[in-house]
Amino acid sequence: MAQGLDLTWMVISFLLLIHLSSQQETSFIFNGFRQGDLHVAGVAQILPGGLLQLTNTSEQKMGQAFFKQPLEFNSSESLSFSTHFACAMVRKPGVTGGNGIAFFLSPTMNLSEADATQYLGLFNTTTNMSPSSRIFAVELDTVQSAEFDDINNNHVGVNVNSLTSTVSAPAAYFSDKEGRSKSINLLSGDSIQVWVDYDGIILNVSLAPLRVQKPSQSLISTSLDLSALLQGKMFVGLSAATGQLANNHYILGWSFSRSKQSLQSLDISKLPKVPHPKKKLSPVLILLLIVLIIIVLLLLGGAYLYRRNKYAEVREEWEKEYGPHRYSYKTIYKATKGFHKDGFLGKGGFGEVYKGTLPREGDIAVKRFSHDGQRGMKQFVAEIASMGRLDHRNLVPLLGYCRRKREFFLISKYMPNGSLDQFLFRGGEESPSLPWTKRYWIVKGIASALCYLHREAAQVVLHRDIKASNVMLDSEFNGKLGDFGMARYHDHGANPTMTGAVGTVGYMAPELTSMGASTRTDVYAFGAFLLEVACGRRPVEPTAAAERQFLVKWVCECWRKKDMLKARDPKLSGESYSSRSVELVMKVGLLCTNLVPEARPEMERVVQYLEELVPLPDFEPETPGIGVLSSVMVGGSSSVVVSNGCKMEEELRDMKARKAHYDMLHFVADAQQGIPKLCPCGSITKESVDEEDTYDYLPGKRYFICKDFENDGMHFRQPWVMGVQQEVERLKIRVHEHEKLLRECDELKAQVRMLLRRVSDLERVV
Ligand SMILES: *[C@@H]1O[C@H](CO)[C@@H](O)[C@H](O)[C@H]1NC(C)=O
Ligand SMILES: *[C@@H]1O[C@H](CO)[C@@H](O)[C@H](O)[C@H]1NC(C)=O
Ligand SMILES: *[C@@H]1O[C@H](CO)[C@@H](O)[C@H](O)[C@H]1NC(C)=O
Ligand SMILES: *[C@@H]1O[C@H](CO)[C@@H](O)[C@H](O)[C@H]1NC(C)=O
Ligand SMILES: *[C@@H]1O[C@H](CO)[C@@H](O)[C@H](O)[C@H]1NC(C)=O
Repeated sequence: MAQGLDLTWMVISFLLLIHLSSQQETSFIFNGFRQGDLHVAGVAQILPGGLLQLTNTSEQKMGQAFFKQPLEFNSSESLSFSTHFACAMVRKPGVTGGNGIAFFLSPTMNLSEADATQYLGLFNTTTNMSPSSRIFAVELDTVQSAEFDDINNNHVGVNVNSLTSTVSAPAAYFSDKEGRSKSINLLSGDSIQVWVDYDGIILNVSLAPLRVQKPSQSLISTSLDLSALLQGKMFVGLSAATGQLANNHYILGWSFSRSKQSLQSLDISKLPKVPHPKKKLSPVLILLLIVLIIIVLLLLGGAYLYRRNKYAEVREEWEKEYGPHRYSYKTIYKATKGFHKDGFLGKGGFGEVYKGTLPREGDIAVKRFSHDGQRGMKQFVAEIASMGRLDHRNLVPLLGYCRRKREFFLISKYMPNGSLDQFLFRGGEESPSLPWTKRYWIVKGIASALCYLHREAAQVVLHRDIKASNVMLDSEFNGKLGDFGMARYHDHGANPTMTGAVGTVGYMAPELTSMGASTRTDVYAFGAFLLEVACGRRPVEPTAAAERQFLVKWVCECWRKKDMLKARDPKLSGESYSSRSVELVMKVGLLCTNLVPEARPEMERVVQYLEELVPLPDFEPETPGIGVLSSVMVGGSSSVVVSNGCKMEEELRDMKARKAHYDMLHFVADAQQGIPKLCPCGSITKESVDEEDTYDYLPGKRYFICKDFENDGMHFRQPWVMGVQQEVERLKIRVHEHEKLLRECDELKAQVRMLLRRVSDLERVV
């Protein structure tokens, strides 16, 4: 029985021991809090996420949290304790916060009589400095209170029964990594770890940012005797208070133990997240931001509009079928580097030509000209589309076009050797003359191209502007007919619609103004071109000596004098060449420039002549229509060509032929004084002609625009009608004079005969 009692006693005393030691070893850890874990007072509360909020941002508030179970202190035993907690002070944006957090030991959980603000919810004016209050605290103070001799507004202090710290230090931690002390801003909103260790003699306080290990060196290490304070039941707690300045005081986790060895470290990963209020922007900043955004938007919009305008082009429904031939303006703009002057190739009658490079097509030439109106454009685009379908090795390949408001672009292959006229006319040593073999090759090429246009293409194509400056040369000096700006298209067998007489003076067939363009007018221009190439001269040279002014006439004249080669290009004289082929080309040129359209050969025949497949027909300088000056008399050239060597009859015949031709031109008969109301194209000429609307193509000559110009862009009014009329009048007078002379001559002859008869009569009488 006694044994049983003994056993019972042993068990009781063992349990007691456990109880005592457990009391001694009171420790707890909260990696985040749950309702009921702590006794909270004041405004303190445990938030759903497990965060302990000691105060919110309301002013003049305090809040405390106590571990419910009291600690037993007995001064004859160890007074040690250790704690580790994580806290955060989160301010309202743009507001300085206060007042701070304290870890404390207090004999009571009822601190309702304590004050907020600088009293930190621990003391009031009565209890401060009073040994009977028995409160020990480690404060994280964020407000500098002069009455408590605070060192600054961001410090750690050790308080014993008083808010005047026995020891204090600016908030900082010793970084073991960097081996130096680093300051901490308590109010930064970042979570801070705090360690407080007391072994009965020394009190150590350390701080560190959340993810930093406990520093090896303490911020505060001071010897402290708390034996008078730590007696009997003591409650351990955390307190915070706000004053005029306020912020959220949060505790994330808390670990406590009576001994340093058994203190458990907080598990940082399990700690609740601290809410950081979204930074509210100040109205000024918001306004600035809005203004900035508007400016940026405006700039972007401007840039977009600028770009759109820069690359703007006109596209219409009917253009779709020409899709493949249409280039975007941007492509062309980039290809020509923004129509940079470095790529400027030249200026033609209808626009400027720029060189460019496209990735796929290689070097290109871009012809740019302005236009107005819609109707003409549509037709033009259609024609360009059909031009795109043209395929002949002696045609400049047209790659496509582009259209913008008021501007039009033609894109063709770039011809490295430029146009033929440069080689024919640009004098000087630096441009070597083109040898005859090459000229002959080019001429034959152009002839076959023209034959293709007239006969073989899907539609009859009238080029209407054949001349040396429209013949381009590729790298191997193959002639390629270009510039279809004036070309007209019509179906085989159909009659071309009458359009304005266009072309270049000297290449224009005489009937052009009255009958309109036809394949025969192209043949005429080709004839003029042949003579041009063979003679190295333009068809009309107003400044030359009278007998050389008109090339056709001059070549014929030389032929008449049995020295046709006299007319050839002097630059060719140094070469050995077949004079036969030069003569051939000249004679074909004369055949083609026959005054009578029907007498001109078709292009097919011209090709055969040039290829010497068919012999030339019999003809001589005296053959009617050959070498007769075209009626496109360059207006005011008052000197009527009269070669002294010609017999009177020949001149008379020539003039009669011309007169007849002029008479045939109905508009001459109808010609009014001044500029006729009607253009040959049928549209009305402008009533008043601005200086700007007149073009000086030849010295002293004026070309006026007819009203239709706006739509078509091609009609030129040629006011040489007046000149022609004057010319006709002058010719009529001269013919009349010659006829008079002839009559007189006949009369004289008759008189001479009479006289001779009388003489013989007299002789007989004598
Ligand atoms: C702070 O908490 C108190 C009591 O819980 C409440 O009355 C007050 O509105 C809160 N203040 C703010 C700014 O949330
Ligand atoms: C303190 O502890 C000692 C022995 O552990 C005990 O004798 C004494 O009564 C205790 N004092 C108080 C006030 O509890
Ligand atoms: C706290 O103490 C005051 C007086 O000091 C008392 O009025 C109040 O009821 C106490 N509160 C609690 C919860 O005990
Ligand atoms: C200070 O608090 C104590 C209780 O802790 C109370 O008795 C006293 O009246 C308070 N003094 C002031 C001025 O509030
Ligand atoms: C306090 O720090 C000192 C020096 O760093 C150390 O020797 C002492 O053991 C520490 N005391 C406690 C209770 O941590």
